[in-house]
Amino acid sequence: MILVLGATGTTGSALVETLLARGREVTAVTRDPSKVAVRDGLAVSTSIVPAEAIYLVAPPGPEIVEHDRRYLEAARANGIGRVVKLSAIGTPETPVPDNQLGSWHQPGEEAVRRSGLVWTILRPTTFASNSLAWADDLRSGRPVPNFWGDGQQGVIDPADIAAVAAEALTGDDHDGQTYTLTGPELITVPEQVAILGEVIGGGATTKDMDAGEIGVFAEGARFVREGRNAVLTDDVERILGRRPATFRAWAEANRARFQPA
Ligand SMILES: NC(=O)c1ccc[n+]([C@@H]2O[C@H](COP(=O)([O-])OP(=O)(O)OC[C@H]3O[C@@H](n4cnc5c(N)ncnc54)[C@H](OP(=O)(O)O)[C@@H]3O)[C@@H](O)[C@H]2O)c1
Repeated sequence: MILVLGATGTTGSALVETLLARGREVTAVTRDPSKVAVRDGLAVSTSIVPAEAIYLVAPPGPEIVEHDRRYLEAARANGIGRVVKLSAIGTPETPVPDNQLGSWHQPGEEAVRRSGLVWTILRPTTFASNSLAWADDLRSGRPVPNFWGDGQQGVIDPADIAAVAAEALTGDDHDGQTYTLTGPELITVPEQVAILGEVIGGGATTKDMDAGEIGVFAEGARFVREGRNAVLTDDVERILGRRPATFRAWAEANRARFQPA
């Protein structure tokens, strides 16, 4: 049985379906069990229980390290032998004081590597599903505020992250590996918005914004604007034996989420 943290969230929910489709037993870990539709092969728990492996997902923020340490300790206490941690692209190997975003995951990664469990670390880039934050603007015909300028990113379909996680959780080919997961192409936010406009059958535009002083979000936006997240790797293709999904493919599969009800 495999424990999936963040099972009600973006990659965790896709991972649950992927593992069930492979005939694996899964326990979804959530603070609110009513959010999980228990069925054959799928149980729900509010805490860590004995399992073969655990998918370690933390909500974004500075509490990631405490979260990771707490769940690793519980995993060890429950005899869990394998952990796959969802980290983030740009996470430095050693602490960097002025890299706030990267620093969120760095100590969590370190805790995973020292945990005594067999581990794999996944560092995905920006999720395609982040664009759901623009759905209201697209539905209303308003321009999408663009804080990211023309910075390119290798935007990834969260289902591809889940597919890689399923490989790492169920086999030993990826033990001790740290992967940087990207989609197949570099794309800017205005290009993403233009694709969404085509997919939903209406025009869609962006409105350039100054990221300003809005804390960590501005730091992330500046990082992208400066072209520092223009990274593509072939890790997804090497692990899955197929090309990762394009942003357009993700947008077509999620068209209804951007259209008026
Ligand atoms: N979004 C991106 O572009 C991106 C890129 C790279 C890396 N990441 C990393 O991916 C991870 C997941 O991010 P996400 O935004 O996509 O999250 P998510 O998968 O949507 O959410 C994960 C889960 O965290 C739980 N959760 C939410 N708030 C919580 C809280 N305050 N305390 C405890 N649990 C809480 C929720 O589960 P329950 O409510 O069911 O308990 C939720 O299902 C983060 O560590 C982030 O750094 C994200």
